[in-house]
Amino acid sequence: GRRPALDHLAEDSTAGESQTYELSYPPKSKTAAAVPFQQPSTLLTFSYTPERVLEFTDSALRYYVDPPLRAELKYGYERWIKRPEEKGRLDGLLKAVLKYRSRVDAGGADGAAWLRDIAVVSWRGVMTKILTAPYEDRDGWELNVMLVDGTLYLEEHTSNEKLVEKEYMEPRHRLFSYFGYSFESYCTSSHPDRREVHAEGRSHPFGWGGDVDTNVQWCAVVKTKLGDQRLVIGGEVDCVRERFKGSTDTLVELKTSMTIRGPQDEAKFEKKLLKFYFQSFLLGVPEIVVGFRTPQGQISTTQSFKTIQIPRMVRGKPHAWDPSICLDWGHRFLQFLKSTLASQTNALRERSVWRARFSPGSGVTLSPLDDSGVAEVEAGEDRVGFLPKWYVDELKG
Ligand code: A3P
Ligand code: MG
Ligand code: MG
Repeated sequence: GRRPALDHLAEDSTAGESQTYELSYPPKSKTAAAVPFQQPSTLLTFSYTPERVLEFTDSALRYYVDPPLRAELKYGYERWIKRPEEKGRLDGLLKAVLKYRSRVDAGGADGAAWLRDIAVVSWRGVMTKILTAPYEDRDGWELNVMLVDGTLYLEEHTSNEKLVEKEYMEPRHRLFSYFGYSFESYCTSSHPDRREVHAEGRSHPFGWGGDVDTNVQWCAVVKTKLGDQRLVIGGEVDCVRERFKGSTDTLVELKTSMTIRGPQDEAKFEKKLLKFYFQSFLLGVPEIVVGFRTPQGQISTTQSFKTIQIPRMVRGKPHAWDPSICLDWGHRFLQFLKSTLASQTNALRERSVWRARFSPGSGVTLSPLDDSGVAEVEAGEDRVGFLPKWYVDELKG
């Protein structure tokens, strides 16, 4: 096959069909050329109901309220309705993409042409993993990759073993995970100007926003641009400051973190800010409210951060990170995926699912899945690779 014209790219085709392409680990010592990132704008929003039904409404939207002093995060743990762990399917996002495309058509423009112009469709969590890889020294990841009509689709690959592992979380980790959702409850209300009002006869701690049901989510789908690549990204948004009229200006991300007791904790927190930063940056969320908690789960203080100011806070520190390194890497990574997949012969293109593997300290490999790999991704469902058949049919129809 033809070699994609990219730096740092090696093709190892010794094993005949099982080609593996490599992209070397991003250098973080030197400064990167600034790849521009366009301010994201909202295409549409949607909600998941308690029954986990996706609807194009803002029924799951929550409004920010200051949490009560010394909120106890363990409250309500035994009533947590926990959404089962699932594979990182794109289905909900793809439904939204089709919805938006039909709106483009209805507006008299060409929806199909709009979609062909999109380089990448993925969830925000996937994009965050990609962009923060230069500073990730612990956790690897795997993506399933498809190129359809010039658009890359990226989903996180979760093996069945890993899914089971995630579902049976250690009790302590399960509780810590609950703390994050509990904080969201204390910080939000379903009404714009007042705290949640509970049904008569239910007594809850002051400021409780309602029992946690992680099936319920409010999501935004945005378009943005990384260098020359147009991206459509979907992700959950925790709440808004004011009435939502479609702008990202009022979106708020909520986070919990351990109270900082010394320089070591501070360094750990500043390292964590990299993920907080990109998670919010990618959707254009301008504000992150962090609740600092004790190990037992009591909020001690909250602090609001302006997303765009976060890189400045860590600059010059020993454990500093530089977002331009991440953007440069992300741009090169996406280019690598696209040029590698686009340069394949037809025979290989038909076996159309690829696996990208990131290993901290070594880099990324990319190889086509064989038939059993594709079968695992399709999981016996009505899919073309990992894309639902209804989506692919709609593109072709
Ligand atoms: P915290 O981030 O405050 O700990 P998000 O912050 O993205 O809105 O996610 C809400 C909460 O989901 C997190 O709150 C955390 O408790 C939980 N969570 C997110 N990712 C997780 C993971 N990989 N494992 C366990 N819990 C997770
Ligand atoms: Mg969230
Ligand atoms: Mg959050």
